[in-house]
Amino acid sequence: MSYSLDLHDIQGNIVFGYGHFGYPKGRYIFFKFNDDVKSREFVGKLVPLVTTSAPLDKQQKILEKPLVTTNIAFTYAGLRELGTPDASLRTFPEDFRMGMKSRLAILGDNGVSAPEHWDPIWRDNNWDIHMWMSINGNTEANVEIRYQRIIRILDEINGDAEEAGIEVLIGHRGPNGQDNLPYQPVSAVYADVEVDGKTVNVPTSMEHFHYTDGISDPFFKGMSDNPDAAIGAGKPTRGDPTTAEGWQPLEPGEFLLGYRDEMYEYPVAPAPRLLSFNGSFMVYRKLHENVGAFNEYLKDTSKQIPDVDDEHQAFETLAAQFSGRWRNGAPLTTHPTWKDAQEFGKSWTDCTVKLFLNPDSYSEEERKEARVTYEELKKIRVAFKYDDDIEGSKCPMTAHARRVNPRGALEYGEKDAYGTPGALVDRRRFLRRGLPYGESPDRTSNDGDHGIIFMAVNASISRQFEFVQQQWINYGNDFKVSNDKV
Ligand code: HEM
Repeated sequence: MSYSLDLHDIQGNIVFGYGHFGYPKGRYIFFKFNDDVKSREFVGKLVPLVTTSAPLDKQQKILEKPLVTTNIAFTYAGLRELGTPDASLRTFPEDFRMGMKSRLAILGDNGVSAPEHWDPIWRDNNWDIHMWMSINGNTEANVEIRYQRIIRILDEINGDAEEAGIEVLIGHRGPNGQDNLPYQPVSAVYADVEVDGKTVNVPTSMEHFHYTDGISDPFFKGMSDNPDAAIGAGKPTRGDPTTAEGWQPLEPGEFLLGYRDEMYEYPVAPAPRLLSFNGSFMVYRKLHENVGAFNEYLKDTSKQIPDVDDEHQAFETLAAQFSGRWRNGAPLTTHPTWKDAQEFGKSWTDCTVKLFLNPDSYSEEERKEARVTYEELKKIRVAFKYDDDIEGSKCPMTAHARRVNPRGALEYGEKDAYGTPGALVDRRRFLRRGLPYGESPDRTSNDGDHGIIFMAVNASISRQFEFVQQQWINYGNDFKVSNDKV
């Protein structure tokens, strides 16, 4: 039976990761409300600009995909400043009410990650950050047009009052040493690629360590009627992982408020229902990447990899063991050798050139063939579990992608929780959103402002995002390793 969600009532960034949808550019803006009446007027005027999930749904053929998107979210303090009644505020969960700074012991935000090192906007404000807005676009120019439109709305409402009713908070660090930007700029990482003998600069799916990112994303009921869409993205069953038999869609209540979750319960949601239904909780983190230190570590440590003569090959093998995927996205558990990864990468590049980068140079027949191979490769990238690699001999237990989504490997065997392979892991999934920020042209340097803006969307911040960050990333108990956060 098909399951339908009201995509018109769910923000677009919840159901769809914009990075995959042709929006390589973006800005994240944070607002402070000083005047509740003006702030409510501001939010009211933004509502028609908010992008819902409906136009992005590939199955519908009526609505056009917009060139630019706008989405908003509120903090607990923001809801209070807007005048949300106490009776409602009291129903919000503690993890959300406390805010990220107060959760630093859980998150491991100490040492260089401690709040005193955060961008000034986060360091200097806490209860003054009231609303988040994202603008994503196909080009920087379209993002700028939407940004200017928002600022005009804000200026009109503020008028010439001495104190602005709504403020744009400044204090984001930028690429040239700035620390007072009015928004966080984000962008896909662009790279020069060889396309049939010519070099072209294109947006890629890479982050700054140069791994392909944004491949895995949970699939839940109502996202699509296509049963194959759950392959590698839903919850694992005992079936063949390369077919729909091996997966089932997750319950929407893991990601959306107002629906049943994996315990067949309704997640704790703020009252009244009208306020929370079809909403969710989002975590926003700016994660700097120490590209130079990471590369240096790989270079030094990969010298110890046995049976690999070639330096570059050893370097890349260690890089894959860190991530759980080769740079081109091929999973280590199904592509354990360098040779496997090379073959995957060659076919992938061939298809992307024919389909996206230089389609005019190929016949319809060639493009059709490439489409079939491309869809097959996309499936190969996600259609795996770790159950034939339970000891981690192909993909280490501690590889990033395996730690954050063990896909049932923690409970495989006779002692499966509730008789299903991934029952406990299925309660720790979350939707990853966001884009990289900054540039990292010098691969030996840590300096400069570059990394990823990481956003997690889930029904419970503490059960899903925080659990993964604390127990699976910072602690190693479940993988029988130490707390090896450096
Ligand atoms: C700078 C920091 C990070 C980088 C560069 C990074 C990079 C990556 C890459 C390259 C992948 C594999 C591509 C994919 O499967 O989509 C991945 C997967 C993933 N990452 Fe991260 N990541 C970072 C931080 C985090 C953090 C802090 C969390 C959670 C608290 C996290 C959660 C995930 C999840 C859930 C997946 C999907 C795994 C799967 O379903 O197979 N990542 N990440």
